[in-house]
Parts: sequence; C-alpha cells; structure tokens
Amino acid sequence: VPEIGCLSIIVLGASGDLAKKKTFPALFHLYCQGFLPPIEVHIFGYARTKISDDELRNRIRGYLVSERSASPSKDVSKFLQLIKYVSGSYDAAEGFQMLDKEISKHETSKNSLEGSSRRLFYLALPPSVYPSVCRMIRRYCMNKSNLGRWTRIVVEKPFGRDLGSAEELSSQIGELFDEPQIYRIDHYLGKELVQNLLVLRFANRFFLPLWNRDNIDNVQIVFREDFGTEGRGGYFDEYGIIRDIIQNHLLQVLCLVAMEKPVSLKPERIRDEKVKVLQSVLPIKDEEVVLGQYEGYRDDPTVPDHSNTPTFATIILRIHNERWEGVPFILKAGKALNSRKAEIRVQFKDVPGDIFKCKKQGRNEFVIRLQPSEAMYMKLMVKQPGLEMSTVQSELDLSYRQRYQGVTIPEAYERLILDTIRGDQQHFVRRDELKHGRFSRLFYIELTTVK
Ligand code: BG6
Repeated sequence: VPEIGCLSIIVLGASGDLAKKKTFPALFHLYCQGFLPPIEVHIFGYARTKISDDELRNRIRGYLVSERSASPSKDVSKFLQLIKYVSGSYDAAEGFQMLDKEISKHETSKNSLEGSSRRLFYLALPPSVYPSVCRMIRRYCMNKSNLGRWTRIVVEKPFGRDLGSAEELSSQIGELFDEPQIYRIDHYLGKELVQNLLVLRFANRFFLPLWNRDNIDNVQIVFREDFGTEGRGGYFDEYGIIRDIIQNHLLQVLCLVAMEKPVSLKPERIRDEKVKVLQSVLPIKDEEVVLGQYEGYRDDPTVPDHSNTPTFATIILRIHNERWEGVPFILKAGKALNSRKAEIRVQFKDVPGDIFKCKKQGRNEFVIRLQPSEAMYMKLMVKQPGLEMSTVQSELDLSYRQRYQGVTIPEAYERLILDTIRGDQQHFVRRDELKHGRFSRLFYIELTTVK
C-alpha cells in the first residue's frame, strides 16, 4: 500500500441510505485491506441531523459487516473510530466553516505529511442540493492548491431530469470545479465484468474479427431485479426505470461493448471512444420502445396513487457507424421481475450454408453475466457424444467462482472510491458523455411515462 499522505474523506449526506449502504461499507472494506491507513486518513460525516459521533457510528455499524469481512468486530470498532461527525445545513456557511475547522485540525496534526493534504468530498445527496453544496465547499472547505494537495468531489446520478436540467447542473458544478476534480460515479463501471470488457474485446484475437455487423445479429443488455421500489418510491417515481437504470448503467455498458479500440488506456482516450458511440446513436423509434409498470407498484405508500412511471422498459438503440449499422442493441430493464440478473448477450448470425441444420437448436451466443455469480460463457454447437452424427448446443463456461476460488471480487463502490483517491478517472463519466448520452426525445419527453 503506497503512502498516501494526509487524506480526509468527507461523506455528505452521512445519515442517508446511500452513505449507510454503500459509501461507508466500501470505505470499511478499503480500510480492512490497508488502503486507508489510520494515521493518515480521517473520515467525516456531514448531514443536517443533529447527532453525536457515536450516534452516527451506531447507525453505520450494522451495515459494515458482511460475509466479506474477515475479522469484523475488531476492525469495525477501529474503523468507526476514524469517523467524526459534523452537522449543518447544505446551504449555509456555518456548518461548512465548522467542517473545515475539523478537517484542518487533523491536517495540521503531527502525523500529517506537510503539504500533502487531500480532501475528498463524497456527495451522497440528492442532486438538487449539489449546486449549493459545491458552492459551500468551494467557498469554505477548499484545499489550497499547493503541490501535493487536492480537493475532489464525487457525485452520483441522477444528473438532472432532461438534457436542459442535466446541462444546467453540469454548468453549475463546472463553474466551481474543474473536470479533473469531478468524479461522476456510475457504479456499473466498477463491476468486475464491466471492467473486463475492454480486456476481453481488445486482448483476444478471437473476438477482434468477429465483433461487428458481419457476424453479430444483435446485442442484448439486460437488467432485472426481483424486488420493487421498497420504500424508495419517492425517488424512483420521479425518475422511472429509464433514468434510473437505462440512461446510465446500461448505456455505459453499451459504450464499452460497442466502442472502437482506444489509442491507449489513458482515461481520456477511453472516454473519447465512448463519446463517439453515443454520438452515433440514431434517434429512437416509437415502435422500438416498450414500457410497463409492475402490478402493485402503486400500492407502495411512497408512490403516488395515479403514477404512470415505468418500472420496465425495452428500448432498441441503433448505432450508425461502419461497425454496427443494422445491429440492434436491445436494452431491457425491469424491477419486480422473477429474477435478479444483469447480463450482456451477444447473439451471432446463423452459419452460412449450414449443413447440419442446427438453426433450430439455437445460435452461437456469447454471454457475459455481470451478476449474480459473475461468468462468461459461449454457447456453441458440438457433436452430440455417441454413435450418431447429430448436433447439440453446449457451453464453454468460465464461471468466476469456480475458476478464481479464494479470490474476492471487490464491490463496485470500493473499487471506484479507491480510484477517486488515486486520481484515476477512467471509470467515471465525463461531462460530454452525459450530454451525448441524453437522447432527449427518449429520456425526457412522452416516452418516459406509461400510457
Ligand atoms: C441503482 C439504482 O443505481 O442501481 C437502483 O438506483 C438499483 O434502483 C441499483 O436497484 C442496482 O444496482 P446493482 O449493483 O444491485 O445491480
């Protein structure tokens, strides 16, 4: 573990759901693996609720322990001791001045390396307060930009409701912070098999000649959940499945599946290629969109009685370029379905001049299962073992659990938070990706409601 100098991680919205369920547990796992050395790192929670340090620690405690933490109780207590709490509002100077004072205290303590203080602000907050919080940070909590010092902010989707509001939000934050300081999290970019897409596509001779319209019939990117809104109806109903899942998570996956090879692995070069994919997506046709709402959605007390927000959507995107012309990218997402799964299915065309008449048995297909149980498998035709010369569809299967026994796959948030500390923006969404990923007609007008 490299020496990281003095690092302050400030979780704003510390008493909220995202912080409890994702941010603090991810920090805890990083801590357990030695990425957050206690001498150098301090963690601050900030929120409006007036509670003590211990009350915050008690609220978080129950979320830290999972089957992944090896020696929970000892580590949990030590980790919790790193956390201090400051309460204040999101739009007034007082709280942020207090926060700055608290952060500065440990930055000047004798253990800090002079001149190396770093401040990471994680906004586990609704986007409506981003502008005021960013203003307050800028005004009262900025690190002086001496050598070795930095201030970074981490924000979460949804970034606005439509192209206009997204651009407005981007400009408001952009006036206060430079792009290299802004980390827009899309946690799908932190998933193991999403990160594997670049390697798979560009480090394997197998795929290079096949990955195009001549060989691929269609690509399906599917997200299903077997639970509904579960108390998150207030948020969900305002955004719907398209803004919650498709416009960000699935679109990011689509970019990685469809993009050209970047000239290098530099974050900017990768993001340049993703933007080109987004710029090549054609306008979506009405008849290529299906929306639905699960039965019982409106029974959730946090959902308005007459809501027509979709909880299910299938959308076909078409990419107008040399590689993908004519290949439908079918994006499907739904809540409260019969299973939980996220996967990419690449379906190949039929074999020309098929002498085995195997068409009916199914096509070649390459499946990348993001979750649960990460796996990649290739469906292919083989001879049915035995005396007859008949064919059967079988699988070449790489199941991570079997192949990488004993290896723990990091949680998406854990990996992404570590990237923010290291200053690696490869797996974060750049401002222009946001802009070009908003096919305004689709995401923001009539299609976002169930008729
Ligand atoms: C979030 C959505 O971004 O992703 C949730 O807001 C959804 O509605 C969640 O449940 C799914 O994440 P994962 O990692 O469990 O697939």
